[in-house]
Amino acid sequence: MKNSGMGVPPMEKAAQGQDGPATHGQDARATASRSYLLGFDIGTSATKALLIDERGRVVAAASAEYPGLVPHPAWSEQEPAHWLRAVSRTAKKVLAVAPAGAVRAVGLSGQMHGSVLLDKSNRVLRPAILWNDQRTGEECAEITRRAGGRRKLISLAANPALAGFTAPKILWVRRHEPHVWERTVKVLLPKDYVRFCLTGDFATDLSDASGTLLLDVRQRKWSAKLLAALELDKDLLPRCYESPEVTGVLHAAGAKLLGLPAGTPVVAGGGDNAAGAVGNGIVRPGVVSTSLGTSGVVFAHAEEMAADPLGRVHTFCAAVPGQWHVMGVVLSAGGSLQWFRNQLCGEEVAEARRRGVDPYELITALAARSPLGSHGLYFLPYLTGERTPHGDSDARACWIGLSNMHGRAEMARAVMEGVTYAMRDCLEIIRGMGVPVREIRATGGGARSRFWRQMQADVYGQAVRTINAAEGPAYGAALLAGVGAGVWGSVPEASDAAVRLRTATRPEAQARRAYEERYREYDRLYLALKESFARLAAVEKKDK
Ligand code: XUL
Repeated sequence: MKNSGMGVPPMEKAAQGQDGPATHGQDARATASRSYLLGFDIGTSATKALLIDERGRVVAAASAEYPGLVPHPAWSEQEPAHWLRAVSRTAKKVLAVAPAGAVRAVGLSGQMHGSVLLDKSNRVLRPAILWNDQRTGEECAEITRRAGGRRKLISLAANPALAGFTAPKILWVRRHEPHVWERTVKVLLPKDYVRFCLTGDFATDLSDASGTLLLDVRQRKWSAKLLAALELDKDLLPRCYESPEVTGVLHAAGAKLLGLPAGTPVVAGGGDNAAGAVGNGIVRPGVVSTSLGTSGVVFAHAEEMAADPLGRVHTFCAAVPGQWHVMGVVLSAGGSLQWFRNQLCGEEVAEARRRGVDPYELITALAARSPLGSHGLYFLPYLTGERTPHGDSDARACWIGLSNMHGRAEMARAVMEGVTYAMRDCLEIIRGMGVPVREIRATGGGARSRFWRQMQADVYGQAVRTINAAEGPAYGAALLAGVGAGVWGSVPEASDAAVRLRTATRPEAQARRAYEERYREYDRLYLALKESFARLAAVEKKDK
């Protein structure tokens, strides 16, 4: 998943650099006879562009960052114009190594759930409200009520109403900004606004559409029932396509923006997780990824639609046509360690700077000084509330069990253990739904750490494997472009061409047993604190 302090996994950022130059893979001998595919990921803190060849090899990559807006606490917005600028800049950087005419197709992926509102002249009416914005609690309750209750809503949309999803944002604007709402004629997701600016088409793909809460995820079309219940017009929404389908071609202005010929096809692409899954090879049942970026995502492919009746994990359409995926989201995974780094690891950060290494290497070494279980210290990683499994925006992070023998080593290890337990929570729900978990692939910044991979294997009680691909959603988007252009016959074929297994880390029997017991204890802590979290939040709201 694309996750970050607002977007980029903290451990990947150093490697990416700020608005860095295009980096060239070993296979950068671009010649006129080769042809290429261009993928974009419109992330939360940066856009990444990736040029690959027809064997799935990365030829060039570039990223450009942009700011987020926080107009009120827990709100999160962004100017769509920044995405366009970043798309244009990164495209030009990666295309410097390839003849523009050799690009066969473009694929788009991006942060999900964001809302871009357009007026009748296709002007953006207000900043986009993003996936990590928490303002819509009341609208979520309203949607649940209008849909006929939580179970009914889950039966219609495969998911419950969550603050980050798109439909609650639309209702929020309708209620709080009627002057904006009365001029709104289209609502687009972030990557689909970029698409519109490239091709003039109002289109989306089914994986991203699933995160709006307006899609009938089983039938793979907009839900007439939900639209009616929410009094929303279907014309507000773009047309839905399967991920590898071509939605249109670059028009003159779009071609200029990218530096490609007009007429280059653009495929539907996918939400960042669905596209990332294509790049990670999570395209068949039984293969699951655990991604530790700023947020943590446990992602399982499913041939049949499976929704959790309690709505603790998301069920979305997959980028593989006609199939689905199930996904648990831990909001602050690498984000918890990033917070720990920022607040309590000045020493390691300074030392890392002196030695020219990644501060997380030193923080992991600090954690490794503590024994398994952190001497009885637990960390609940709910810094920004939690999605899976609790769906509770009032939950807050805490260390539990602090004593005078604990120091930063135990605190660091407890943070990593707490995050890993939270990931296990997601896995347990997925396993409990009957979705097979035969192979776990560790991805994201957290997968780079051997220590964290071992901890994952021990806590999950199952081996975790790493893969060659570390390029994330932009890579998946480029592969989808390849399927659309006929380079590969299907999404799994594209994935197979690209993904290679690397290391396998197996659980150690003793550690596995020790973690099993501690995981059970961890799981009770939220329940013990749930009511306190709600009361504490109420006190704070009252004082505002
Ligand atoms: C998925 C989600 C995030 C965003 C931002 O449900 O909220 O993965 O797509 O990256």
